[in-house]
Formats: sequence, structure tokens, C-alpha cells
Amino acid sequence: MQKQAELYRGKAKTVYSTEDDALLVLEFRDDTSAGDGARIAQFERKGKVNNRFNYFIMRKLEEAGIPTQMEALLSDTESLVKKLDMVPVECVVRNRAAGSLVKRLGVEEGLVLDPPLFDLFLKNDAMHDPMINESYCETFGWVSREHLAQMKTLTYRANAVLTTLFDNAGLILVDFKLEFGLFNGEVLLGDEFSPDGARLWDKATLNKLDKDRFRQEMGGLIEAYEEVAHRLGVDLS
Ligand code: TMP
Repeated sequence: MQKQAELYRGKAKTVYSTEDDALLVLEFRDDTSAGDGARIAQFERKGKVNNRFNYFIMRKLEEAGIPTQMEALLSDTESLVKKLDMVPVECVVRNRAAGSLVKRLGVEEGLVLDPPLFDLFLKNDAMHDPMINESYCETFGWVSREHLAQMKTLTYRANAVLTTLFDNAGLILVDFKLEFGLFNGEVLLGDEFSPDGARLWDKATLNKLDKDRFRQEMGGLIEAYEEVAHRLGVDLS
């Protein structure tokens, strides 16, 4: 399936139409951004690493019974996906305190959160992705109560699957963000799962192996992503 018109250019991916109205091509670029796009940089191999990483994770989630938009890996930097009507709400699970939670509550980074926290954010760069809750979704009509309940259930199920997967690779899944969409009325997992939208720490050293390396100007971003991919057994050849 060939890509046709460019439909949307996001901060790290470009979405293309295909000859099939129900399918899209996601192209993972080498771009990385922080601060809602305020800081942008390019990292060689990032598009390839994240595309292959995302395909690997989506397949694992499918195997565990979580429905996703993924159809096929097309090339090093492109995947074929079902076209979803995206819900403009991000679902975040936190197993340990980090990032905005630490800023908001002043709790210690790394604090174990038991049971894990579930947060919702509105996808709106201009408003800096504000935190919202279930009632906002219903009142503003971003997603129905029933579909949101499914998104929450699927996010927690993904957390269980991925926590084990990363733990077996010597990594702590600190937190992550998922986005969902509707396909013929069914809730499917969309967008991507990669170290761009998750926090992953080495179990032994608590070394950060995710996008915080870029946010905090620590260096070694792609090397960290490749290390995570290598430990999981993602094919980067
Ligand atoms: P936060 O600590 O900034 O709220 O982020 C929690 C997790 O969700 C972290 O792994 C980054 C991810 N995330 C995104 O990838 N994009 C977003 O817009 C938000 C709000 C979070």
C-alpha cells in the first residue's frame, strides 16, 4: 500500500492517506520536540527505532487481546494503520511518581504508586495539554462515558502487559500515555507507544532511557532508545 496525500504533520509523525479510505500510513520522522513544540531537534535513526519499537509493542498488545489500529510494518519508518476517528483525550497511567505529578504534588520522584494512578489530558498544544477528568469529557462531548470507560479498562490492561514485558527486560515502566480512536464504533488503541511517550528506567541503576533525556538535556537519547529496543528483542536490523 503506497502513501498518497499528506493529511497531517504532527511533531514526530506524518499521516498520509492511501488508496484505501479505511487505511492510513504513519511515517515516523527523526524529529523530537519538548515543551509543546517549543524545542525541536532531529536525531538520526529515531524514526526507524520508534516505528519498529511501536510495531513490536502493538503486536504484543494485540496478542494480549487489546485491539489496536496496527495493520502492518511497511518500511523502516512507515506503518500501515486503520484510520480512526481519534478521541482528543490522552490516557496516562503512572506506576511511579515522575514528571508533571512530581511538579504538581511535590512528591518524591520514583515513589511507587499503588494502585497506579490514571490521569486524563486534553490534546491541545495551544493550551499545553491541560489535565481534565471524566466529567469534562462528557460535558464537552470529547468522548462518551461508555467509550471512556473502555479506554480506561484497555489502558490498565496495557499497563499490566507492558509492566511485565519491560520488567523481564530489566526495565521499570514508570508511566506512559495512550491515545484511542473509534473504528466502526469500536474503541481501538491508536497513535504510538515508544520511549517518546513513556518513562522507562533501568531496574538496577534507575538510569532514564526515554524522552526525559531530551527534556532534561542529558544526551544519549537514541542510544537509550536502542538499548531499550535491544533488551526487548525489537528487530532493528
Ligand atoms: P507527564 O508527567 O508530563 O504528565 O507525562 C506522563 C507520561 O505521559 C510521560 O511518559 C509522558 C507521557 N505524555 C506524553 O507523551 N504526551 C503528553 O502530551 C502527555 C501529557 C504525557
